[in-house]
Amino acid sequence: MGTHETGSVLSLVGVSKTYDGAQKPALDQVSFSVKPGEFFSILGPSGSGKTTILRTVAGFEKPDTGQIVMAGEVVNSVAPNKRDVRTVFQSYALFPHLTVRENVEYPLRMKGEAKPTRRTKAEEALALTEMATFADRFPHQLSGGQRQRAALARSIVSRPRLLLLDEPLAALDLRLRQQMQHTLVALQKELGIAFMYVTHDQGEALSMSDRVVVLQDGKIAQLATPREIYFAPQNEFVSRFVGRSNLVAVNFEPTDTGFVGRVEGIKVPGLTAKKGGTARMAIRYEAIQVKPLDEAEGAPDTIPGVVEDVLFLGTNCEVNVRCGGVNLIGTVPAVRHSTFTVGQPVKVAFDAANTQVFHD
Ligand SMILES: Nc1ncnc2c1ncn2[C@@H]1O[C@H](COP(=O)(O)OP(=O)(O)OP(=O)(O)O)[C@@H](O)[C@H]1O
Ligand SMILES: [Mg+2]
Repeated sequence: MGTHETGSVLSLVGVSKTYDGAQKPALDQVSFSVKPGEFFSILGPSGSGKTTILRTVAGFEKPDTGQIVMAGEVVNSVAPNKRDVRTVFQSYALFPHLTVRENVEYPLRMKGEAKPTRRTKAEEALALTEMATFADRFPHQLSGGQRQRAALARSIVSRPRLLLLDEPLAALDLRLRQQMQHTLVALQKELGIAFMYVTHDQGEALSMSDRVVVLQDGKIAQLATPREIYFAPQNEFVSRFVGRSNLVAVNFEPTDTGFVGRVEGIKVPGLTAKKGGTARMAIRYEAIQVKPLDEAEGAPDTIPGVVEDVLFLGTNCEVNVRCGGVNLIGTVPAVRHSTFTVGQPVKVAFDAANTQVFHD
């Protein structure tokens, strides 16, 4: 075989898995590699196979076909506790009758490490997760965020080469979640351990990761850096799932200089293709400019429309404009008194460089 990249912490090579009695595979020919020290995220909707990947890597599930390779070795038949990996789950699963310190020391005790070493390593893990002051408390005496940090300390205390995290922040409120995102990224960089982080939250995946794999029905839809995923989605699924996009029909017609795209009959400058015919185009909300008629006066190549509704979101407003047969939604900065009202005629423009065209 040997199709995995050498030097990777983990490689999946053509991994497929269908659960007993299931109609379709939970994983379908999944292949990717995680580099040492990388923050690698798995992003996908509910049921796309994220947890199944983690469970196969941790050793709780066996792939039907394909290989799990860790540090150059096929580990398909290696028991979970013999793999150089730890898992942090959404529910923290601390031992309730042990203090935080005892919880953190637990994996080392299982490995038979001597008490003084255990102490030192636990102190270090507790300091890294800023849990030193809570070391003697029991889990029920902690807040949700503190409990999650204790679980984190326990999972890093033995310094695995790879840490698996399954939606570890899902149970926390927004404030705490954002704080923990920073903690996790800083901790990961400091430890140099590779993280494989499962989330269905695109913001989380984009802000924290070195690379992201987007899953759709057990298959890889795209594997790339957050910026590539965001600015160059490879298919309609990714453009819909990551960020907010309008999807419109575009018609490419021949001209002297190649094929030029029209949306609702209006030529879009810079929108060209190598072939003619219809295609679908994704335009990010933030790439759409909505202009009142007086401001748009004289500007060529704008699409006329009527404001259908305005959604106030705090920082921004989303203005939904009916343009002939399509709706185009654009993000505009929110100001105290809204610039746009329902029924107002406006003009819409967008930059062709900020679009993705998907030919059939
Ligand atoms: N033990 C099981 N037996 C049968 N089917 C299962 C089992 N576990 C998961 N599945 C199915 O496999 C598919 C993938 O599930 P998985 O838990 O990996 O999804 P997920 O991406 O983690 O979803 P979520 O975001 O909801 O946690 C789903 O269709 C699910 O119903
Ligand atoms: Mg899951």
